[in-house]
Amino acid sequence: MELEGFITNTIIEPFRIRSVEPIRFTTMEERKIKLKEAGYNPFLLKARDVLIDLLTDSGTGAMSSAQWSGMIASDESYAGSESYYKFESAVQDITGFKHVIPTHQGRAAENILFTTIAKQGDVIPNNTHFDTTRAHVEHNGAEALDLVIEEGKQPQKIHPFKGNMDTEKLEQTIAERGAENIPAIMLTATNNSGGGQPVSMRNIRDVSKIARKHGIPFFLDACRFAENCWFIKTREAGYENKSPIEIARRMFKYADGCTMSAKKDGMSNIGGFLALNDDELAKKCRSLTILTEGFPTYGGMAGYDMEAVAIGLYEALDEGYLRYRIRSTAYLGEKLQFAGISIVQPTGGHAVYIDAKSMLPHIPSLEYPAWSLTNALYLIGGIRAVEIGSVMFGLQPDGTEKPAAMELVRLAIPRRVYTQSHVDYLAEAVIHTYRQRNQLRGYKIVSEPTVLRHFSAQLEPI
Ligand code: F0G
Repeated sequence: MELEGFITNTIIEPFRIRSVEPIRFTTMEERKIKLKEAGYNPFLLKARDVLIDLLTDSGTGAMSSAQWSGMIASDESYAGSESYYKFESAVQDITGFKHVIPTHQGRAAENILFTTIAKQGDVIPNNTHFDTTRAHVEHNGAEALDLVIEEGKQPQKIHPFKGNMDTEKLEQTIAERGAENIPAIMLTATNNSGGGQPVSMRNIRDVSKIARKHGIPFFLDACRFAENCWFIKTREAGYENKSPIEIARRMFKYADGCTMSAKKDGMSNIGGFLALNDDELAKKCRSLTILTEGFPTYGGMAGYDMEAVAIGLYEALDEGYLRYRIRSTAYLGEKLQFAGISIVQPTGGHAVYIDAKSMLPHIPSLEYPAWSLTNALYLIGGIRAVEIGSVMFGLQPDGTEKPAAMELVRLAIPRRVYTQSHVDYLAEAVIHTYRQRNQLRGYKIVSEPTVLRHFSAQLEPI
């Protein structure tokens, strides 16, 4: 008898679970009290009162048995530890960059890079700067310019690479501002602030060509580089038979350096790095690292953190893992869309972004519709999401308020943490909330700090 091979449509979690962390169930009555005590701000909730935590995919992933065993065997020497060399060689193997400067997380790499290269009057173009990147550019007196393609700003527009940079606008910026005032060009892959949307290899190559023609260093914000590689493999002609690591190596070859938060595609709970080719620049950056992070062979990480990252970077590039990762995010997106909920399309790599403006047209922007939806998701399902809208971006430096361009709720999926039934539960809770959308009311802010107000503001329902 000949048996037929089995090709399944179900993409299963490519791991089995050997260590579990209980999650705590609460009632809606309890959650009402907890949310009120937290000033109606999910950032101020205790994690123990959250059932499914989608606040961020950063540092919230599960580590593998290989990572844990690497951590036990780490070398904690202050200078020249074995764990550093393992970390350095993993980063060099994947990125090809000569100098590897460890940092405690992504924004520390940004701080070192921009303090070293940016000054008053400079401009740094990016597809879309992430908040911390923008803050570090501006902190050094330079301008953070977002040049994402038009499609990248329209939630419902379908485009395979909505994270691409508009290269015409880039050329125009260089002509207007002068290459000497542009210390670096950046691309964020995937583009977090634009919905976790990928950048194509072609766009990376085109931006690289322009940068090289004008002698401007080109850096990748590589936080989610592995997820970006998977989109290139599955959406860009010519890459379908390449492995994610081959795609990653080619992507980095076009750049002169990168900043990295290892809390994302480093599969670690903490860590990051700045990697680059220029000897002179590396020397300056290392001096600053000693001042703000630590000795250049640990830079704010323990030896065991560097072990976790050295192993995690390869795990993030595993084909079976990436197939599951990107599919499970898309699966949630599809369920919500099928129920009529409008989300940023197509679904990004690390998160589903719900378009709260179109779900709650009866709540004006300055009564914070995305905040209202975020709180409703907590009350109904014990789910913690994050508002990316007018509470986060509405406060202007002069103290006035301006509605944000979009009112989004980000459901960020931690890596290897939740199973398909968690995702099914999530979809059910979001859809249940959607069906009662007319009951949702706006919020007003009762107290707020002057910067980054979303982290600690206190609100009240209207
Ligand atoms: N760049 C991007 C694109 C990011 O998404 C983040 C962090 C950083 C830089 C900074 O890295 O947190 O290690 O200092 N994003 C997290 C998030 C916080 O929730 O999206 P970090």
